[in-house]
Amino acid sequence: MTVKTIITEPNKLLRQISKPVENVGKQEQQLMNDMLDTMYDANGIGLAAIQIGIPKRIIVMDIGKEEKKEPRYFVNPVIINKDSIKNRYEEGCLSVPEQFAEIDRPSKCEVKYLDYNGKKQILMADGLLATCIQHEMDHLLGKVFVEYLSPLKRLRIKGKMKKRERSLQE
Ligand code: NI
Repeated sequence: MTVKTIITEPNKLLRQISKPVENVGKQEQQLMNDMLDTMYDANGIGLAAIQIGIPKRIIVMDIGKEEKKEPRYFVNPVIINKDSIKNRYEEGCLSVPEQFAEIDRPSKCEVKYLDYNGKKQILMADGLLATCIQHEMDHLLGKVFVEYLSPLKRLRIKGKMKKRERSLQE
């Protein structure tokens, strides 16, 4: 179990499209363990593999209460159904530190995926879980939540990220 470095904006890797996993083996499970450790270390509730530089369709999540860990693992997730009713949440992202914005997304989604052991699963998600799944799945397509915002707001966040990068390099 290793805490990895989370890639932050601006970084071209975050635009990369992740590839499906052919087989859930020891290597993939090790990656999921590392991703979960990295996510907990950063106090996040979700992380996609590309955020630590690995372009595989794998996401991990834990939206449970802090005292009791409830890790979730999704390999090759596909949304097979979504609600036309939208839900609004204030979203943040470990790759866009300290930036938050309200985003509308389908309030429910049905997702099929492989679990930690490579077993096929189908989950009907709503509330924060549905939002989190959709946010993380966007990462697999090279998309970050700020892309839902107006050009002006995006520009503002981009500016802040560049400024942050410069101050970290000093
Ligand atoms: Ni994110």
